[in-house]
Amino acid sequence: ALSDRFRIAIDGPAGAGKSTVARRVAERLGFLYVDTGAMYRALTLKVLEWGAAWEDRSQLARIARESRVELVPAPETPRGNQVFLDGREVTEAVRSPQVGRYVSRLAAVAAVRDVLVEQQRALAARGGVVMDGRDVGSVILPDAELKIFLTATPEERVRRRWAELRAQGFDVTWDDVARDVSERDRLDQARSASPLRRMPDAVEVETTGRDVDAVVDEILRLVERRRASC
Ligand code: DC
Repeated sequence: ALSDRFRIAIDGPAGAGKSTVARRVAERLGFLYVDTGAMYRALTLKVLEWGAAWEDRSQLARIARESRVELVPAPETPRGNQVFLDGREVTEAVRSPQVGRYVSRLAAVAAVRDVLVEQQRALAARGGVVMDGRDVGSVILPDAELKIFLTATPEERVRRRWAELRAQGFDVTWDDVARDVSERDRLDQARSASPLRRMPDAVEVETTGRDVDAVVDEILRLVERRRASC
């Protein structure tokens, strides 16, 4: 059916609530959820473990080409995807503050992005997918049936990242998290390779002060409307 080919792109800055919202939307629709940020995080973990040089773009691209990053749907887990790097489970490891601090450097390398974008398109090829990230609506799936740009105020985004890291047992301070979030925003928006930006055909959805269910319901209404007009 036409509706099974439906693809939802959810982009936005760190802490806007993308993964929580995207995962619930996917659950409600019986769609596949793909967390593209986790793929950048997995490769970042590998670069950190190998001690590769961040300036050496061709080496970073080679690592991207020669690594196996897999996302396995796991709807009953907190993030909805399990992450495997070269066959090893790294779901928790990729959430560390250290990976969070370095991931924007890797994500700025165009040759690395090319490798992941190809894999991400393959994951979405059958449709029935909710994909979240920074370039889903602009690069990965420019013809997605529905594009959402999720936003929240900077304080709210810091609050969520801080709560998430504390809940995972990381001893981070508010100021650490605030610095990391604003640095990541800056890098993600200023980079020349697929910077984060709101596409003209994306619907902006603000999440500050709203429960997840309200946001999810709003997106499901948008899906219904698009399906009716497809
Ligand atoms: O959503 P996240 O915090 O897990 O993303 C981690 C980093 O990866 C973020 O700083 C930007 C980058 N990223 C990207 O450049 N493109 C994507 N599609 C997803 C994430």
